[in-house]
Amino acid sequence: MAHILHIDSSPRGERSRSRRMTREFVEQWKQTHPDDMVTYRDLGRHPVPHLDEPWIAAAFTPPEQHTPEMQAAIRVSDQLVDEFLAADIYVIGLPMYNFSVPTMFKGYIDQIVRMGRTVAYEPEDVENPYKPLVLGKKMFVITARWDSGFGPGERYGSMNHQDPYIVSVFGFIGITDITFVHVENDQVDSESLARSIAAARTKIAQLVSA
Ligand SMILES: Cc1cc2nc3c(=O)[nH]c(=O)nc-3n(C[C@H](O)[C@H](O)[C@H](O)COP(=O)(O)O)c2cc1C
Repeated sequence: MAHILHIDSSPRGERSRSRRMTREFVEQWKQTHPDDMVTYRDLGRHPVPHLDEPWIAAAFTPPEQHTPEMQAAIRVSDQLVDEFLAADIYVIGLPMYNFSVPTMFKGYIDQIVRMGRTVAYEPEDVENPYKPLVLGKKMFVITARWDSGFGPGERYGSMNHQDPYIVSVFGFIGITDITFVHVENDQVDSESLARSIAAARTKIAQLVSA
């Protein structure tokens, strides 16, 4: 039995392309893997707090030396990390905002990339001091964009700080098995959008059955 962490980060409701596609993904997954467990986190509607000075002090102080203020400041992050580590599979809905990820998702990343929890720091290994701690996981990221042409060498390829960033930051903590599904052309025309949605559905069906 696997444990899925399903995360949405669009602030839109029913109009959200990414939200609809992650829902379809997880519904199909549950049909083929009925024993798997799903935890849902909605960053679009319930963003996590931004980091502040007590948070930073707590994150870089050994837990046994935490003051009550530090304990309070790091509590949400600890809960988010526990939830993240409990999952085997991540299904993430991710709009492109200004060529990158929405602030709600960036805020989440800042809460879960934690020294000693999701990545270790070993300064004595001068060449390679960061050791990823989140191993053996699988991630599916369903992006939504209003245009297309964000692949390497394509017209907006050099402006794409969305999927390359996801690969970098989750690779840093150890998640290297990452598959993307893109829903594009949200604002182009209805035919291009329909084609993109159909292609995304085909890919989702293949991923779920694989
Ligand atoms: C603030 C903002 C910034 C956006 N920036 C981009 C962008 O840089 N590139 C792009 O292709 N689409 C951009 N979009 C369009 C969204 O990515 C697109 O509408 C997508 O479908 C949103 O995801 P959702 O449908 O799940 O809400 C932007 C939308 C908003 C609201």
